[in-house]
Amino acid sequence: MTDQEEVRRFAPLGTVLVIIPTYNEVENLRSVVSRTRAAVPDAHVLVADDNSPDGTGKLADELAAEDERVRVLHRRGKEGLGAAYLAGFEWGMEHGFGVLVEMDADGSHQPEELPRLLTALRHADLVLGSRWVPGGRVVNWPAGRKFLSRGGSTYSRMVLGIPVRDVTGGFRAFRAETLRGLGIDGVSSQGYCFQVDLAHRSVRAGYHVVEVPITFVERELGDSKMSRDIVVEALWRVTAWGVRSRLTRLAERRHTGTHDQPS
Ligand code: GDD
Ligand code: MN
Repeated sequence: MTDQEEVRRFAPLGTVLVIIPTYNEVENLRSVVSRTRAAVPDAHVLVADDNSPDGTGKLADELAAEDERVRVLHRRGKEGLGAAYLAGFEWGMEHGFGVLVEMDADGSHQPEELPRLLTALRHADLVLGSRWVPGGRVVNWPAGRKFLSRGGSTYSRMVLGIPVRDVTGGFRAFRAETLRGLGIDGVSSQGYCFQVDLAHRSVRAGYHVVEVPITFVERELGDSKMSRDIVVEALWRVTAWGVRSRLTRLAERRHTGTHDQPS
């Protein structure tokens, strides 16, 4: 390390809240909650349920009654993954948590990998569980879904100009400070493009974002909520963000008068 390099000191992490958004996950919730509590015994869990017709919310209440570290956020109805996470983040920050984790309910994100994400967060502002860095894997995905995810990540990375391999992943650990700094009030993404939105904002804001390899295991029970609408929303929003941030950078360059010199 040279003298010029700034050595950043990171504050201690504080208490961890694992937010698990659910929509019809009654077959999966008990297992994911108990695995999480076993893997990171100090962590608290918040289930953010969108009034699932299959009774996931009722099961979540039962789990909360059995364990004081498990809480439930009952939401009106299905408003999308992004909205559920934003409400969960807000709840967590109001209750003084220092770390907010995003994790799927269906077992695709293995709670046993969470300690590795949290260790990396000691020296980062945001940690992304990544399928597409060396050591990362996906188990049991059909070729079509793999193509969609890799393609979505590559497209987003290129259009947005950010050095992140897995931009759409949903297994992440944020410092509360990072979310505060991002000003998440302005986030309006509903579907899974919410993930791209937050990764993009974090990199643009200059936060130290670290990718940690994970093994993503496709769900065995229940159905994915991924839909054509979600993909279309992601595609047009990412394209619009890309165009907007390029224009902003161009305008900034004009303003400061730095032009490329002809060679
Ligand atoms: N509260 C709430 N509201 N939860 C939702 C909603 C919603 O509208 N839609 C989905 N969820 C929950 C699911 O119940 C699950 O716990 C989690 O969000 C992920 O949903 P899946 O339907 O299992 O997603 P996936 O496996 O197809 O997608 C995975 O890959 C995406 C793209 O890489 C996830 O890891 C996503 O987070 C990721 O963006
Ligand atoms: Mn899933």
